[in-house]
Amino acid sequence: MTVTSSLDYDFVYRLKYLKWFPIYGRLEGKVTVDIDNCIAFVERELSPKRFKHSLGVMQIMEELASVYALDKTTAIMCGILHDAAKEFPLDRQLEMAGKNNISLSMEYDSYPLFLHGPVGACYIAEELGITDPMLLDAISHHSYFDNGVTVSPRLCWCLRFADILEPSRDWQDIKMQLKPLVYSGKVKEAAYEMMKWAIPFHESMLLPVHPNMHRVFQKLSVLMDEKTLDGIDSIPV
Ligand SMILES: [Fe+2]
Ligand SMILES: [Fe+2]
Repeated sequence: MTVTSSLDYDFVYRLKYLKWFPIYGRLEGKVTVDIDNCIAFVERELSPKRFKHSLGVMQIMEELASVYALDKTTAIMCGILHDAAKEFPLDRQLEMAGKNNISLSMEYDSYPLFLHGPVGACYIAEELGITDPMLLDAISHHSYFDNGVTVSPRLCWCLRFADILEPSRDWQDIKMQLKPLVYSGKVKEAAYEMMKWAIPFHESMLLPVHPNMHRVFQKLSVLMDEKTLDGIDSIPV
């Protein structure tokens, strides 16, 4: 199944472009680096375990590109680069947030578990010259950071799904539940089930739960009750 729908990219992009001007300023157009460079970059930046995870996310993103009508190169790059800043120490993440005017509007925003998304987007823009706002935005939002306005909700959700489904993850129950939904294009149901699992999972691991996770889950719960969704790109992020 291939999912298609129209999206007012101009509207979303204008909002994001203005808000994130320090990050995306002068950045327009497409990815300018090749995938081999990205893989080598990530291998240098990350531990072997997280590098393997990133390769796995890249693999799933390639598969999801055809299901969700994504640009294949963008999807693959998102997968390999999504955790580029995940292993930065807190002080480095906070320093980059300050340098790039990333707004830390609540305490949770300063936790590396959430902050590594936007910091990673800034980092790959700086280090690799990546300029694709859709790619940068998906990476920025994959960690539930920010207010839910994103260039491509479908790309962001695919990245979140791939983050769970990649082969080296040992979460068989949620993977078995999620995989058929994700691969059949049932994005609303998949996102709902993923959040229904993720929040108690974080709590059980004594990990913080960002208020945005609750916000997204509540919105998805309403959508599930209403049994409606105005296109895949209307899904809450
Ligand atoms: Fe991440
Ligand atoms: Fe990840």
